[in-house]
Amino acid sequence: MQQQTHEITELILAAAQKARAETSNEPEPGYTKPVCWPIQCAVGPGLEGAIACESSVGYVNGSKGWLIYRGYDLFDLCAYSTFEEVCYLLLHGRLPRPAELLNLKRELAEYRYLPKTMRLLMSFPVEELNTMAALRLGTLLMRQKQTLRDRDVAKPSIDSAISSDEDSIAMETQPRGSERAAFEFTAAPELNTGTADAAGLPSCYRLIAGVGTIAAAIARLRRGRLPIEPDPELGHAANFLYMITGRRATPVEERVMDVALILHADHGMNASTFASIVVASTLSDIYFSVGAGIAALNGPLHGGANEQVVRTLESIGGPENVPAWFRQAREEKRKIMGFGHRVYKTYDPRARILGPLAKYLAAKSPEIQPLFATAEALEKEVVATLGVEKKIFPNVDFYSGLVYRSLGIDREIFTPVFAVSRVAGWTARVLEYLQNNRIFRPRAVYVGPMNLPYTPLDER
Ligand code: CMC
Repeated sequence: MQQQTHEITELILAAAQKARAETSNEPEPGYTKPVCWPIQCAVGPGLEGAIACESSVGYVNGSKGWLIYRGYDLFDLCAYSTFEEVCYLLLHGRLPRPAELLNLKRELAEYRYLPKTMRLLMSFPVEELNTMAALRLGTLLMRQKQTLRDRDVAKPSIDSAISSDEDSIAMETQPRGSERAAFEFTAAPELNTGTADAAGLPSCYRLIAGVGTIAAAIARLRRGRLPIEPDPELGHAANFLYMITGRRATPVEERVMDVALILHADHGMNASTFASIVVASTLSDIYFSVGAGIAALNGPLHGGANEQVVRTLESIGGPENVPAWFRQAREEKRKIMGFGHRVYKTYDPRARILGPLAKYLAAKSPEIQPLFATAEALEKEVVATLGVEKKIFPNVDFYSGLVYRSLGIDREIFTPVFAVSRVAGWTARVLEYLQNNRIFRPRAVYVGPMNLPYTPLDER
């Protein structure tokens, strides 16, 4: 495995070396010193420049283009760690010891089994739903099994409703390339769902594991296939790919997926993270918080951009069409998906890794190669013009879709994959925020009319 994935590590280390040569990682004092409330800061539309809270989960150095998780450089984490390690790091604040990592892996493997949630989810026409809507639905269905708070509320038992219908759900035939039966809706034997409350670390881990299972099931259902039973022997990335494609990932595919999950795991106070902590600040619970994160991530200005990028590249039709396409896009003042960022005013470090990864994968795939060539040509045009004029560079979403496509993931699943990773950051930041919670309650300035006399309905 190590030998086969060596090239991936080399690519990441080369990207890190290039980033280090081009820019220092000196932190910005305004964003790295403890806050003394109340603070004075210049706030622009979209809360640009506003400080929502203090955090030690992660730091985005926007002027220099560096991303830090709990003090560790993203390039190092991508080169040397795994998604499970990063989850532990984000949630516990330090890297796990070997026994702790083993334990976490075992827990995540158990929590992948969501038999009741799957049954509930499959009672909806998932294949017809927007994939992020289905993911949000699945996450909230998970909540039904985990929340102690609602237990005393009189409600019909979901268990009895499901059990009457259980035998009528069809089963997938044995997946190609696997000796395991298809998803049989069996719970992991040691798992005792329904007893943990929707708060604290166990719920975070349930969500990290569960969002992966649900996203993979959605990918299958959209292809007219049934979900596949998770494999407890596989790591998070390999199992996720297995549950989507029905075949074992190659070591390279597994490593690429793992790197993609690591580099999407956390990213400062972005819109979906903010949505998650706003919901948590009302003392709602972590499932609702993650549901809010998924809803916010869906938009094309945020995580939804990855799907739009591939649509754009396909519509351009080839690198030779890029100059004319770009000229027209500029004339029409269109935003180009996968470029620009509120915080980064330089190269996004995640794009520095995903770009070379996409190139590496495209070289092995005749299907991806023309799309990658188009992407490369578009990047050159944008950087040479908008990069110089407005500091607009490729962001994480520009190359991620090409990487996912190379792994056999459908376009409509790209944004759910983002959520499969970002759930680690959402939960870590929600837990952190709740340690010192205060409800979010900003003001809006009223600019509407005053003192209007009420006109009765029949006089309007
Ligand atoms: N293409 C062309 N022009 C752009 C782009 C772009 N992608 N992004 C920003 N601009 C221009 C924009 O037109 C404006 O120009 P002017 O000052 O002349 O009016 C200027 O740059 C500032 O743009 P803004 O929209 O005010 O910037 P923002 O900080 O509010 O928005 C953004 C940030 C990421 C939403 C925006 O850059 C954008 O819409 N990018 C395309 C969508 C995208 O790729 N989103 C993924 C973001 S990264 C991953 C994630 O967080 O999910």
